[in-house]
Amino acid sequence: MAEKSKILIIGGTGYIGKFIVEASAKSGHPTFALFRESAISDPAKGKLIVGFKNSGVTILTGDLYDHESLVKAIKKVDIVISAVGQNQLADQVKIIDAIKRAGNIKRFFPSEFGNDVDRAQAVEPVRSSNFAVKAKIRRAIEAEGIPHTFVSSNSFAGYSLAILLQPTATAPPRDKVTIPGDGNTKGVFNDERDIGTYTIQSVDDPRTHNKILYIKPPKNVYTFNELVALWEKKIGKNLEKVHVQEEELLKQIQESPSPIDFMLAINHSIFMKGDQTYFEIEPSFGVEASELYPDVKYTTVEEYLDQFV
Ligand SMILES: NC(=O)c1ccc[n+]([C@@H]2O[C@H](COP(=O)([O-])OP(=O)(O)OC[C@H]3O[C@@H](n4cnc5c(N)ncnc54)[C@H](OP(=O)(O)O)[C@@H]3O)[C@@H](O)[C@H]2O)c1
Repeated sequence: MAEKSKILIIGGTGYIGKFIVEASAKSGHPTFALFRESAISDPAKGKLIVGFKNSGVTILTGDLYDHESLVKAIKKVDIVISAVGQNQLADQVKIIDAIKRAGNIKRFFPSEFGNDVDRAQAVEPVRSSNFAVKAKIRRAIEAEGIPHTFVSSNSFAGYSLAILLQPTATAPPRDKVTIPGDGNTKGVFNDERDIGTYTIQSVDDPRTHNKILYIKPPKNVYTFNELVALWEKKIGKNLEKVHVQEEELLKQIQESPSPIDFMLAINHSIFMKGDQTYFEIEPSFGVEASELYPDVKYTTVEEYLDQFV
């Protein structure tokens, strides 16, 4: 059997990054994670990092803004996965520069993990602060000829199902739910652990080389109305439903403070524009994770919601 590639994760203390580090360590790939000194000395993040170390992860110190530290880390591995957050998306050009200089990388996964930014039709503030920046990073990677995979994981369950897509909620609602539009457009909702697992499964796979890896398992594709009906069945109660039409939603986006405006604009992208499901995945640009890796037992929406009942 071919030797497993060595993987470096940048952003491993982050919301999605920690699931990617965990999946990589669990998969048996030699796993390296680059952390800033400030994260290592932070009590909560430090504890997470000790946990990674105990599961066999090699801890490297460095910073996106310290070129030498990036090159040194990248030279140790075959695969680079970036899971940096919103504020560092544009500065991933620094990772691209370091990959060019190191010259040994077989695959780069930039920080994506959301809607397919080349096909999404998001409004502000999502469009220019997030989707356009990710698209620009895609173009820079392609222009440099760096082998890559772009992971379009669609919605994180913890950001969507855990609050039934109600931006100001802290749990799925039990009385009243606000539904964008008619509620009949489909979105995709995935457990973060599965996003980590599918990402790692794809690193050495020639089928994902220079492709978009869509995480769109059939049992996780739901309309808003179907999600509400499923939740109602689980709690044995009907909710009051308020439908918000597009014009009103756009007004709410403009008038809401951050990060509510961002969350509403994501809902607009998913449920008004259908950005997670309106197009077919063509073999020329993409592949679907649950089709490629049928042995992965993913958490279904139906199972995920049980924890809140
Ligand atoms: N689909 C969805 O529902 C969804 C939801 C949320 C996010 N996302 C996407 O997921 C991706 C990751 O976002 P996230 O929210 O998981 O990120 P996050 O929690 O903000 O984490 C950011 C990570 O980047 C690291 N970082 C920041 N500055 C750095 C620097 N100078 N050098 C090295 N590392 C640095 C942070 O490390 P420190 O610990 O040192 O700060 C942290 O590990 C983004 O592309 C985002 O758009 C998708």
